[in-house]
Amino acid sequence: MSDALGIALVGCGTVGGGVAEVLLRHRERLAQRAGRPLQLRHIVVRHLHKPREPFIPRELLTTDFYGVVLQDPNVHVVVELVGGTTVAREFVLAALAAGKHVVTANKALLAEAGPEIFEAARRAERTVCFEAAVAGGIPIIRALGESLAANQITAIQGILNGTSNYILTAMAERGLPYEEALREAQQHGYAEADPTLDVDGSDAAHKLAILAQIAFGVIARPADITRQGIDQLHPMDIRFAHELGYTIKLLAEAWTRNTTPPEGPRGVALHVAPVLLRHTDLLAQVRGAHNAIAVYGDIVGETLYQGPGAGRGPTASSVLADLIDLAVGRAQRTFAVARLWSNTDRGFVLDPPEQVHSRFYLRLLVADKPGVLADIARILAQHTISISSVVQHEAPENGGQLVPLVIVTHYAATGYFLDAVTQINRLSTVAAPAVYYSMGD
Ligand code: NDP
Ligand code: HSE
Repeated sequence: MSDALGIALVGCGTVGGGVAEVLLRHRERLAQRAGRPLQLRHIVVRHLHKPREPFIPRELLTTDFYGVVLQDPNVHVVVELVGGTTVAREFVLAALAAGKHVVTANKALLAEAGPEIFEAARRAERTVCFEAAVAGGIPIIRALGESLAANQITAIQGILNGTSNYILTAMAERGLPYEEALREAQQHGYAEADPTLDVDGSDAAHKLAILAQIAFGVIARPADITRQGIDQLHPMDIRFAHELGYTIKLLAEAWTRNTTPPEGPRGVALHVAPVLLRHTDLLAQVRGAHNAIAVYGDIVGETLYQGPGAGRGPTASSVLADLIDLAVGRAQRTFAVARLWSNTDRGFVLDPPEQVHSRFYLRLLVADKPGVLADIARILAQHTISISSVVQHEAPENGGQLVPLVIVTHYAATGYFLDAVTQINRLSTVAAPAVYYSMGD
């Protein structure tokens, strides 16, 4: 067998611990798959004396990334599993400048600093691998970048945040309060260090930006992606959705649109939001921390990828796949051809999400008196929005004067719908700002 691939792990938490365990416990299997040994040489951590799992050799631990890892000529790959966009960015750029390949699971970093990092890699003639950055254990980066390479992707619809999906499942199936469900997700190691990123849609937006770069060549900064998370989702909407035959999922979506004249650039709208999916929809049936991504290609049609989207084992599995690809030499070749986050024009520009057509779920808190429904219906009609169904339950006899009113619309342009909502919110009979979500059919 030829020379070992020398590896330095930077970060030994949920994911780093999992990667170290596989590297140390499955040496022979990995060497056989990679054609050469994968040798773990250093593990960089922040707290040297923190208790670690028993299989972690203390002599591999260090806090000195620059003095130890970068100075070791037998380290060929730096695996960044620190997280965040500050120290991690410095580590990654320094590793590339020192001639090391980089493997990372850090979607926030790629979404924010992708152009800088990939340009630095090309300058240094080194490779950046990031299978673990999107959808944990699902090989979606390879599926999009390699297996579907002959296709023009036309749409992507994905459950890309395991924590949010875990919370939504626990709320819908076990009736758990939001905070308790989030705590459980954190205990399982699914959540980010700052779980706000999970529940406000940011993490899914970071992942969507990465998929959109591969599929459409667009460079979407996090701020370019409109997002709404599940942090404001009311259990009442989960119940109403269920009554209507729908399940609420946090979806990250990319929809393309032909522009006129036809030879002009095509638009792609990127957004993250809770969406009502029919119970029978395959994405609606994805439970717990699992992720799923539907990808539509012009040659292949619809494909669906499903699996564990977060956590130690699944994420480590993807990191190890990148390390094996680097050891074999496949990753370097793919990286050189793909020219990701460069200015290569692939014919797409970012579209405002207002252009997207959808059906909508609209929930209002209204005064229970004559003319209220008529006023709301009139505003919708003025915006050429047709009503598909209405749900209003009888107010309790001794209850207050306000009742929830749910309206489901037929297809409408998002922009028109939002204008109508603005007007509805101004009605004196509407007691709280409207709550609305799009519907997946
Ligand atoms: P953890 O918080 O569990 O681990 C972070 C690790 O980084 C710890 O070992 C910590 O050291 C180390 N670290 C932090 N700051 C420094 C520093 N300045 N210098 C050296 N080491 C440092 O994070 P996760 O394992 O959950 O996540 C790591 C990355 O993987 C993130 O980018 C995350 O987004 C991504 N990811 C996570 C998934 C998951 O399910 N958890 C799934 C997919 C991607 P110490 O141990 O001493 O505190
Ligand atoms: N916090 C992320 C999630 C980890 O819950 O999906 C996987 O990227």
